[in-house]
Amino acid sequence: MTWLLVLGLALIICFAGVLLVGAPYVPTLTPQVKAALELADLRPGQTLLELGCGDGKVLIAAARADLQVVGYELNPILALIAWVRVRKYPHARVVWGDFWRAKWPSADGIFVFLHPRFMARLDKKIVQENTNFVKLVSFAFVVPGKKIVQEKNGVYLYTYKGRPVTIKA
Ligand SMILES: C[S@@+](CC[C@H](N)C(=O)[O-])C[C@H]1O[C@@H](n2cnc3c(N)ncnc32)[C@H](O)[C@@H]1O
Repeated sequence: MTWLLVLGLALIICFAGVLLVGAPYVPTLTPQVKAALELADLRPGQTLLELGCGDGKVLIAAARADLQVVGYELNPILALIAWVRVRKYPHARVVWGDFWRAKWPSADGIFVFLHPRFMARLDKKIVQENTNFVKLVSFAFVVPGKKIVQEKNGVYLYTYKGRPVTIKA
């Protein structure tokens, strides 16, 4: 009985704890995963970063398309599930941690399914983190004030030009 209580508490902490810094876990539906990859339109070998990768569903679809994939996930249970599911793809990586605090790897595309209250902060972080051109694909939620390049099945595509790198003389 006690272990059931401990297990229940651990589950509540893992899933509810994420709400303090991010969106709750809700998986992207299969047609939207397909739309997201079509909109991102990345070539084999290019890198897709997923911020909040849940159980790894999108990472797997992208890895099957021969993309390099990196997913951040804060919930340790979901991070473990995603890690187990993607481990047979050598070009897929799951990072357990808070993507707001991380230094992101260089990516050609970013996929998110977050929450409206995080979209403006995400926009700012992408501008800060990226020196290269990058495509942002967001399921369900728009970036306030930013021009949508394309929309498909409730998935939105945005592009960021990247900021110039300052080289010290
Ligand atoms: C709406 S779910 C989407 C899951 C997955 N991307 C999908 O589309 O199926 C959002 C996910 O982001 C994770 N998350 C939220 N905030 C996070 C953060 N700051 N760092 C890492 N993961 C986060 C949640 O735990 C959750 O799994």
